[in-house]
Amino acid sequence: MPLSFSSIILCLIKQTFMAQKKRNIYIGSAWPYANGSLHLGHIAGLLGADFLARYYRANGDNVLFVSGSDCHGTPIEVKAEQLGIKPEEVVAEFDAEFRHNLVDQMGFSYDLFYRTADPFHYEKVQKMFLDLYNKGLIYEKVQSLPFCESCNRFLPDRYIEGECPKCHFSPARGDQCDECGSILDAKDLINPKCKSCGKKPIWKDSAHFFLKLSAFEKELRRWTKKAQGWRPNALNFTLKFLEKGLIDRAITRDSKWGVPVPIKGFEEKTIYVWFEAVSGYLTASQKHSVDIDRPELWKDFWQNEKALHYYVHGKDNIPFHTVIWPAILMGLGDLKLADRIISSEYLSFEGKQFSKSRNWGVWLPEFLEKRDPETLRYYLGINGPESADSDFSWKEYQVKVNTELIGKIGNFVNRVLSFTKNNFASQVPEIISPNAEDKMILAESETIFIRVGQLIEAGGFHEALKTILAFAEECNRYIDKKEPWKKIKEDRPLAGNAINVSLQAVSALSGLLNPFLPVTAKKMREQLNLSPQNNWQYTALATNHPIGEPKPLFERVDIP
Ligand code: MF3
Ligand code: ZN
Repeated sequence: MPLSFSSIILCLIKQTFMAQKKRNIYIGSAWPYANGSLHLGHIAGLLGADFLARYYRANGDNVLFVSGSDCHGTPIEVKAEQLGIKPEEVVAEFDAEFRHNLVDQMGFSYDLFYRTADPFHYEKVQKMFLDLYNKGLIYEKVQSLPFCESCNRFLPDRYIEGECPKCHFSPARGDQCDECGSILDAKDLINPKCKSCGKKPIWKDSAHFFLKLSAFEKELRRWTKKAQGWRPNALNFTLKFLEKGLIDRAITRDSKWGVPVPIKGFEEKTIYVWFEAVSGYLTASQKHSVDIDRPELWKDFWQNEKALHYYVHGKDNIPFHTVIWPAILMGLGDLKLADRIISSEYLSFEGKQFSKSRNWGVWLPEFLEKRDPETLRYYLGINGPESADSDFSWKEYQVKVNTELIGKIGNFVNRVLSFTKNNFASQVPEIISPNAEDKMILAESETIFIRVGQLIEAGGFHEALKTILAFAEECNRYIDKKEPWKKIKEDRPLAGNAINVSLQAVSALSGLLNPFLPVTAKKMREQLNLSPQNNWQYTALATNHPIGEPKPLFERVDIP
């Protein structure tokens, strides 16, 4: 049949509309320090980034999702010293472990999981540094710094401890107080001590470079006031932070392991890890573009006012993402600033803070050796420290997995699919005359995508998962009421009706769960004999569509 003129026009309008609808979504999630294994608390702060990436991709948007190993800084230098190996070796070990845990096991769908210990990153960071230096936004100044005579070295921020001058918590680190969150200057600590040997440091002169943060105060204020969709912790912290006024900060260090300062006479010093690591958000984007042979691609995200930028991290990272990094970007110019700041609160373990030194917590490599990553994605997705601190306990984990994930979702899916196999020769039965209850479930299968999508976009992962869970509960109530296992004998078409509707709901669930539980969603699609989901919509199942082989989706969890 020849296409009519109007249908061609309609088609063109549709295409343009679809093309315009595609958004460019940049997602940068925090770069873990490559000096130790990850624990569940780290994952709690990062997971949202993958939910977002998978959701937007399913929605048909262009996504650039990057992170990597944060390879420099004193903890890594000290660890290498202790082990008698090179910092490069420490980094290589943990970088490999992160990739295995995060990418292979947890299924984080980064476009690039990069590392700051890479020549391309060095080169780009040095260029950024010089650019700001040439603009007068980085300047040289002699600093008087803590030096430990017994350890014979300048003490970096984290290696000097004392009482916080703001809240009097002790021990506060030289760079930040974990109690009140203030960014500190080691000089202001009360009763400073060398963390390694406990001696009181002396103060010695050393020339360094400062980032002129003060020059960005006004612009940062203006920008923060316009902020939309930041988590409240990020917004409140940043507003308070800016209110106090910004002081210029040293962004170079007397340490060898890092990106060398690209200025003559300073080659022995390195660029401060926080200046250099946040720059990874941009260098990783550029590296990815080079890697896939589209060297200009990063510009679609970074030099495009219409792009939407997300940053996902734990609350101790807030000022670096909302003040320092934006200031660097403003200084460089023509680069997109953050739109959404998704900063998590803290996760505790059985009611107490995770602690490496006290060996209190659950470490990711061990957890993943024995347990299904999807169960962790679920637990932290629905119960993570999203807007308040939350806790991981084995008991709660068991309850959540066994009663919610298995009891409400897994069992429903399995019941419906097995019933279809056993009573309808593995084919979707016909729906004859849907009544109000049937129509409710069918309508919900469509509209729920809009609600859950909006929640995910806003970083409301708890609510999104709770909405999906509530839908599964509704489906359970529905099928319990319809009792197809009884009806099948008396009124086969009526049983078929209920199973058709339930299968449609399973199809909807497979789509909705995709960002959160990608492996489970894939299994569900296979069992429904549907192709992998590639849109944020519910896929209707046609009558007589043959389904696949039903299998349980999860294993029950036992507490150790
Ligand atoms: N390594 C830092 C931490 O674990 C996070 C760095 S995020 C970055 O707290 F983007 F700046 F790299
Ligand atoms: Zn010392």
